[in-house]
Amino acid sequence: MQRYLDYNATCPTLDVALEAMHKTAKHASGNPSSMHWAGRAARRALDDARDKMANYLNVESGSLVFTSGGTEANNMAIFGCLSTAKKGKVVVSAIEHPSVLQTITYWSERLGHKLCLVRPQKNGQMDADIFCAELDEHTVMACLMWANNESGVIQPVHKVVQVCKQLSIPVLVDGVQALGKMNVDVNALGADFISFSAHKIGGPKGVGVLAIRRGVQCETWALGGGQERGRRSGTENVPAVAGFAAALGVLDYADAETVRDGFEEMLLAKMPDVTIHGSDVERVANTSMFTVPGMDGETLLMQLDLSGFAVASGSACSSGKREPSHVLQAMGVNERAARSSLRVSFGIEHTEDDASALVDELVRIRGLLKHMAGL
Ligand SMILES: Cc1ncc(COP(=O)(O)O)c(C=O)c1O
Repeated sequence: MQRYLDYNATCPTLDVALEAMHKTAKHASGNPSSMHWAGRAARRALDDARDKMANYLNVESGSLVFTSGGTEANNMAIFGCLSTAKKGKVVVSAIEHPSVLQTITYWSERLGHKLCLVRPQKNGQMDADIFCAELDEHTVMACLMWANNESGVIQPVHKVVQVCKQLSIPVLVDGVQALGKMNVDVNALGADFISFSAHKIGGPKGVGVLAIRRGVQCETWALGGGQERGRRSGTENVPAVAGFAAALGVLDYADAETVRDGFEEMLLAKMPDVTIHGSDVERVANTSMFTVPGMDGETLLMQLDLSGFAVASGSACSSGKREPSHVLQAMGVNERAARSSLRVSFGIEHTEDDASALVDELVRIRGLLKHMAGL
């Protein structure tokens, strides 16, 4: 039996999204910039999707810029902000997704900004006071994600955005892992930039959106036809955008919390030496990240894969080398423990049976690996 427990990596595409994509590709296949009937049909489909999304996110339609995904949305905000800023300080949490961390490091070095990385507490949550203490009159940008993709820990974005606004510091909130898993109200948050991605909510891969607060300057790097109000040139991927809009609000993770909590309880009962990361702070409902001492996370992942369980390990591939999770390391977890970690992210179809099957399998694999190692 196959069980897909890697929803934070991507969600299976929802039927409603597939249907919307198919319908749009078939009946609105013109170029939305063309003035004839075919172009108008595509423009209508694009506008409808944008309006639906704006309504769902509680933001003006004109604030939304469609992109090729969360990565591009983050790149757009960072370049858009830093390229025209006078030299200054950039304050970023150390647990951001690589699409923020690498991009901001690159542009800070190139443009001569000073980069300040702020570590979270041991539980994976940023201390808003510590983060805000780094903000000053020289700060030209701040970045704090809404929910962490590895630990699931929810970050104090409201407080940080509020302080950034008081100090007139542009702030990017990566909302990719928050969308669909919690109430996301863009207007109420009030950040200058918020990024989202369709495939984390059951929409298609390769489409995302950046919400840019009205009046905020964002230099464009995608020049050409002037689409998206001149902010991102290139013919819009209308079917993908329609699929994204169709997926909004469909997944309801309310029950995932029960499954996740049950999983962690069973895991700790059967493997008391396991450490669960971030369990004493608020997390998105579906995510569990834990360390199994003495075990290599990659080996566990591969063994689980052989038994049909798809999970993620606490390491990321960079230039062909497996690097231990920068998130866990920023939380103070040592390299060895970070390499012994797994992330399970449940979907809405999972039940306590799936959770207990995973625990049983982990126990079996650990026993087997210990036996093989002669322990
Ligand atoms: C927090 C976060 N930000 C950004 C991204 C990148 O999104 P995309 O895959 O759409 O480029 C991801 C994807 O894993 C993510 O988890």
